[in-house]
Amino acid sequence: MIEIVDLHKSFGKNLVLRGINLTIREGESLAIIGKSGCGKSVLLKHIVALLKPDKGYVKFEGRIINEMNNKELYETRKRFGFLFQGAALFDSMTVEENVSLPLTENNVESKEAIAKIVADKLALVGLPNTQKLKPAELSGGMKKRVGLARALVTNPSYILYDEPTTGLDPIMSDSIDDLIKDLNQKIMATSIIVTHDMFSVKNVADKIAMMHEGKIYFTGTPDELLNSTDSVIQKFIQRTGF
Ligand SMILES: Nc1ncnc2c1ncn2[C@@H]1O[C@H](COP(=O)(O)OP(=O)(O)O)[C@@H](O)[C@H]1O
Ligand SMILES: [Mg+2]
Repeated sequence: MIEIVDLHKSFGKNLVLRGINLTIREGESLAIIGKSGCGKSVLLKHIVALLKPDKGYVKFEGRIINEMNNKELYETRKRFGFLFQGAALFDSMTVEENVSLPLTENNVESKEAIAKIVADKLALVGLPNTQKLKPAELSGGMKKRVGLARALVTNPSYILYDEPTTGLDPIMSDSIDDLIKDLNQKIMATSIIVTHDMFSVKNVADKIAMMHEGKIYFTGTPDELLNSTDSVIQKFIQRTGF
């Protein structure tokens, strides 16, 4: 379980997070939505301690992340897979090198073991036998899948997706949504998906948290969101074209 309590974060005068309270339970598939620039990526980065809060905290399985020592933080990070916005592959490296990065960085496995893990994860995301390709040879959707394979190499129990379908055409988006749903079932992971794709939300999430003015404005099911008569929610839904 992840508990986010009274989380505050500013960048200079820009008050981004102004008291976020949110609990994410094991096995849940949570979508975080909200206007562009409202702080969704900033919130995700706090969950894996890539950013430090000004006030408040994130608790992971009962422990406050910012009070962990390096070894504990390292062990905790291994429990998370993070698909960054834009997939962020290294162009000079092959698919295999990109996917194996979280393992080779820490020298935890033999070369053979790493090759096997990479092959397994590439198969899991529907890209078998692509190890030797370079990112330039891949479509946008394939790049996302490679990014996802990389997020999966440590066998995480929590997967964070930052805008996994942004920039993809509707067919590609659907296939990424299907993959996320499939992974939720196959590896029983807890998913946190930042998206502004309302089709994605309805397809993939069982719970939604909507951010607004630095706080969690709404939590509920996709149906509760779509049936809400609240004017802020209505406006957001209409603007996203749902
Ligand atoms: N490292 C940073 N330094 C300064 N400002 C940042 C940084 N990261 C994000 N911001 C600002 O925080 C706000 C929220 O950004 P972000 O979380 O990326 O929004 P989004 O909801 O679109 O993901 C934006 O105004 C952005 O410019
Ligand atoms: Mg973002």
